[in-house]
Amino acid sequence: MANSVKQVIEAAGFRLAAVTDAPYVDAQVLAGYVLCRDRAWLVAHSDEVFPSDRLNEFRLLIDDRAQGRPVAHLTGHREFWSLRLKVTPDTLIPRPETEHLVEQVLSLNLPEAADILDFGTGGGAIAIALAHERPVWRIHAMDMSVAALQVAAENAFLTDTSHICFVNADSLAVYGVRCFDVIVSNPPYIAEGDPYLRRGDIRFESDDALLAGEDGLDCIRYLVAHASQSLRPGGWLLMEHGHDQAAAVRSLLRQAGYTDIGMIADLAGNDRVIQARCPDND
Ligand SMILES: C[S@@+](CC[C@H](N)C(=O)[O-])C[C@H]1O[C@@H](n2cnc3c(N)ncnc32)[C@H](O)[C@@H]1O
Repeated sequence: MANSVKQVIEAAGFRLAAVTDAPYVDAQVLAGYVLCRDRAWLVAHSDEVFPSDRLNEFRLLIDDRAQGRPVAHLTGHREFWSLRLKVTPDTLIPRPETEHLVEQVLSLNLPEAADILDFGTGGGAIAIALAHERPVWRIHAMDMSVAALQVAAENAFLTDTSHICFVNADSLAVYGVRCFDVIVSNPPYIAEGDPYLRRGDIRFESDDALLAGEDGLDCIRYLVAHASQSLRPGGWLLMEHGHDQAAAVRSLLRQAGYTDIGMIADLAGNDRVIQARCPDND
């Protein structure tokens, strides 16, 4: 007997219950993907028969999801800041908490044509969201991964933000001194061996995007130590960090002479973003 859209999605959600916290949502997203329909259509047409010629593809995707593969890798995209971004295994899957970084940069009192650097841009999420909101800002974005930058450039083209200047580099040395008003980064910040690495989508993401030494702070330490040479006087450094790293990151910034340190919590109430003004190096 033919099954309705609702029945097929519910059965798939039931199957995914052991692997994800949002089994029904995942099944719905994958159904929308194979049917090329949005959520509103799936709800409005929930009693219609699930098209039989799409059923096999849907079941194969559910099989893959049941093995743990991230939904974003199966559909090849993820929404960030209401923008549809391409995602591949070479790029971090953009996370909702990173939108707090974007919000904070947008809330700063900056010059009209500010120079902003997104350090470790991955698929370009932060740089693209900022370029989308502030077309007159000069947005620079760098990453050590060529494969990620290729995805970022494609995302910039697809979102009409191709004026972003992408650079392949692994340090701030490629830029001049005192050339940015803001350096923003969602750097790798997970400690090697953290049990969290064995759970969920993260198992399928690149170590280079995630890992930062024994305590997860290597990249943050680098930014704290070097950003002030690349920032203009009074410029801001904003970084995402792990839910249990706020005190350590604040202490690093204080020791390095940064001022106006502020912490921003995520929706769960954990401090996840930190901002600070660079010390005056004169
Ligand atoms: C956690 S991911 C963030 C990606 C993206 N900004 C986002 O929020 O979705 C960190 C990114 O930093 C890059 N990265 C790590 N160390 C770097 C370094 N020293 N120089 C440049 N990029 C680096 C990685 O390749 C990866 O793309």
